Order: sequence, then structure tokens, then C-alpha cells
Amino acid sequence: MKKNEILENISVDKLIFGGKGLAVAPDGRKIIITGGVIPGSVVNLRILKVKKGHFEAQIVDTVKKSPLEQELPAHYQVYGGCKWLPIAYKEQLKIKEEQVREAFHYVEKYWQESPEKTPVFHPIVASPEIYGYRNKVEFSWGKYISEKEGVYDTFRFGFHAQAQFDRIIDCDFCVLADDEINAIFKEMNEYSRKSGLPTYDPKTNIGFWRHFVVRKAHFTNEIMLILSINHEFEEYNRKHEGDILIFAGKLMEQFPHIASIYLLQNSGRADIVTGEAILMKGKPTITEHLLGKTFEINPKSFFQTNSLGAEKLYSVVRDLMKTQGGTLLDLYAGTGTIGILLADRFEKVYSVELVPEASKDGAKNALKNGATNITFINDKTENFLPKFLAENSDIKNTSLIIDPPRDGMHPGALPEILKFNSKEIIYVSCNPATLARDLDYIFANSDYHLTDIIPVDMFPHTHHIETVVRLEK
Ligand SMILES: C[S@@+](CC[C@H](N)C(=O)[O-])C[C@H]1O[C@@H](n2cnc3c(N)ncnc32)[C@H](O)[C@@H]1O
Repeated sequence: MKKNEILENISVDKLIFGGKGLAVAPDGRKIIITGGVIPGSVVNLRILKVKKGHFEAQIVDTVKKSPLEQELPAHYQVYGGCKWLPIAYKEQLKIKEEQVREAFHYVEKYWQESPEKTPVFHPIVASPEIYGYRNKVEFSWGKYISEKEGVYDTFRFGFHAQAQFDRIIDCDFCVLADDEINAIFKEMNEYSRKSGLPTYDPKTNIGFWRHFVVRKAHFTNEIMLILSINHEFEEYNRKHEGDILIFAGKLMEQFPHIASIYLLQNSGRADIVTGEAILMKGKPTITEHLLGKTFEINPKSFFQTNSLGAEKLYSVVRDLMKTQGGTLLDLYAGTGTIGILLADRFEKVYSVELVPEASKDGAKNALKNGATNITFINDKTENFLPKFLAENSDIKNTSLIIDPPRDGMHPGALPEILKFNSKEIIYVSCNPATLARDLDYIFANSDYHLTDIIPVDMFPHTHHIETVVRLEK
């Protein structure tokens, strides 16, 4: 079997973490399948890569639908992010729970030797809302030109196609976004198409429209719009600047929840939402509430994208953490949400975060919530920990919250966390594989054991999964 060969009538066995499918080829080798895979379906595949022990392949067409597949309203379409939309939600939860269980096989040897240390594996916590749950959606403008497919479309507005960064798919309606976000998107779509201004092309650095980010605070309904454009595009500066301001004013009248509109000036070629944010209309921040605390969100703030789901996640963390008093180290803190929610239980909290803007926002949010015992430290966790230990060698009664990005903890940070001798560690992870890897290090080098494992689904219809675990001595 070789590249581009078609494999017919292949049954998809299951989904593996990252959203790829797993099947077995006629010669017994494994096939890893990309693109909208549904376990239980029978598909025809094209081989993309031949590796030593497996193939990588892409679905060409579906021969037989999976019994897990559900009928959806006609306007519910799968664009880039919501690949699992055709799978019934209760099946999605089962798949995610199973993926977390599988990741833990890697470390179960540690409790097989002493079964009294077997952790409780709790049922997965579902997202309170499964449609319209996103409080932030990022739309992109672009073009799609393909001689092979006979497509010459110079104006598209919607989402990037999965793993095809030069291809935008027009979108009518995003099922993960709130209705008001969809309605505003529709207005922006009509306005930009009629404007006569072209979409930005990173290859030539010519064009105008780039990204449109809509944020809506779930609990206050306040909306922020961030319109990212190439401000160096000459035609805009000659004629259109005033038009866009008028349009922004009309949008605010039409959608009274819009509290803030920014223009993001971006003339860099990279396809990222960046640049100088200029407030065009309204106030600089919108306000969100989580578990009774107040958070101000500015155009560049990191904030969990599912507010109701974040309340579930943080409640799990709050309930699992048993310690009262002493010092809390909130590592990989973002804007300090977890530290702020737990601050009243501790004498002192240190929230450590790499991104300076997030640390600054966190410090402001802490004060807003009267949490005067939190210090925000803008540093890498792996650099902060040895310095902190050297300066506070006699520190006792320290608890740790660890919430790293997908890659897990830096190898330099792992030995440091063990030096605190904390009674309790809560690890929040968005990647069960790196969580298992880090736990393996911790178990092999200390006498911690796991008490609880709780998967939490914050992102229905996507492959993403959060896991919260509690370790104790
Ligand atoms: C998964 S987010 C968690 C944010 C926060 N705990 C929350 O609940 O909103 C991970 C955070 O770690 C930060 N980060 C990444 N690498 C880091 C490092 N080496 N040291 C400190 N923070 C880091 C990222 O900027 C991001 O804000």
C-alpha cells in the first residue's frame, strides 16, 4: 500500500485524543484518520502518509453512517471547530470520558501495587449548554482560489477550513455562538461585502478586511466587537474610515448590548489577531461574572470561552481543594481567575503567569473583587519556583494549583513543585496525555498519590477535554 491509494470499506473503530480516528487496514496495520471522523462509520480512505507501523489517511466518502450519528437541523453545519456536531452529545461525553480513562492506564501501575491508593474516577461533568455556549467567536475574511477545483472566490467570511490555513469557508451561522453573536456577524458580513474593500491577502500584503472577534459576557450580556483590519490599505484611509465609524454607531443602536467596539490595526502578514487596539465606540472593557466574582475583559484578555462551563470547572477545583490557610501558589494563572476564587481561604496567594497583559488584568480583577492578598507574578513558572524557594526556604503549608497549557509542565518545574512538600496539589489539564506524563514523574519521585480524577467538558462538539485531579501526600 502506498501514498494516494484508496482503501475501501474501512470501519472506524474509535476516536483518539486530538479528534483523529483509528481503524485497521486490511494488512493489519493501524490507520490514523483525519477530518470529521465518526466512530462506527464505514468509510473510503485516501492514504496520505505511509509510516513504519501505521498509515495516515483522509476520508474520501462515507459508505455507511455510524449509529452514533444524529440528525441535525439543516442550518447546523460543521465548519472548522465543531467536528463532533454529528455525534449525539451523550456519546461525545462517553468518548471523552473513555479517552481520559485510557490516558490514565499509563500511570495505573502506581496504584495496582497498593489498591487502597486507587483514585476515584468521577463521571464526566457535562457542559450546561451544548449550543451557543461560546462567549468569544473569531471570524476571518479571506479568499479561496483553487485552479484544481475551479474555484475563484475573492471574498469569503467565516472560518478557516480544518488544517487549511489559506482556505476560508463562508459561514451563515455558528452553532457554538450565541444568537446575538450570529446576528451581529450577519450584519458585518453584509456590510463588508457591500463596502467594495477587498479581503486581506497575506501573500501580497494588500487588502483590508482581516478578522472580526465578537465577545459576549454571558452573565451581563455586554458585547465587545474587535474589527481587525489592514489600516495601511490606502483606499480605506482616503474614503472609508468615516464610513466604518458610522456603521459602528448603527450597530450599537441596533444591538443595545454592544458596549465596546475596537478597531485593531494590523499590517503584519501573520494570520493572527494582533495589533494596536483603538477604542472606536463605547467603553474599554466588558464585565463578566463567574461564581459571584467580577471580571473585566479587555480586547486582549484571556478568558475561558464557555462561561457556564468555566463555572463548572472552577466549582470542581474549589470543591476538590480541601486546604484552608497558608499560601496558595496559582501556577499558570492566566488572569488569576482560580486564585481570585480561592483567595478568601488562604492567607497569601501568588498567581504566576507568563503573559504580561494577563498578569496586569489579573491584578486589576483581584482588587475589583477585594482580594488584596494576591500578588501577580509575571514570570515563567519554571523560573519563578526556584527563586521563590530560595527566598522563602522556611515556607510551610503551601498548596498548589497547576493549570498549564496543552504541553503540560516544563521539565524544569516538575522537580521544583515537589520541594514544597504541599499536602495537596490540584492539577487542571487540557491534555490528558501530558497530564499522565507529568503525574508519572510526580509518582516516580515522591510519595504523592491521586485521590480524584474528574473530566469536565467545556467544549461540546469539539475534541477538547479538561481533566481535574487532586493529589495528596
Ligand atoms: C490553560 S491556561 C490557564 C489559565 C487560568 N488558570 C484560567 O483558568 O483561566 C494556561 C496559562 O499558562 C500560561 N503559561 C504558558 N506557559 C507558561 C509558563 N511557562 N509559565 C507560566 N505561565 C505560562 C498561558 O499564558 C496561559 O495563560
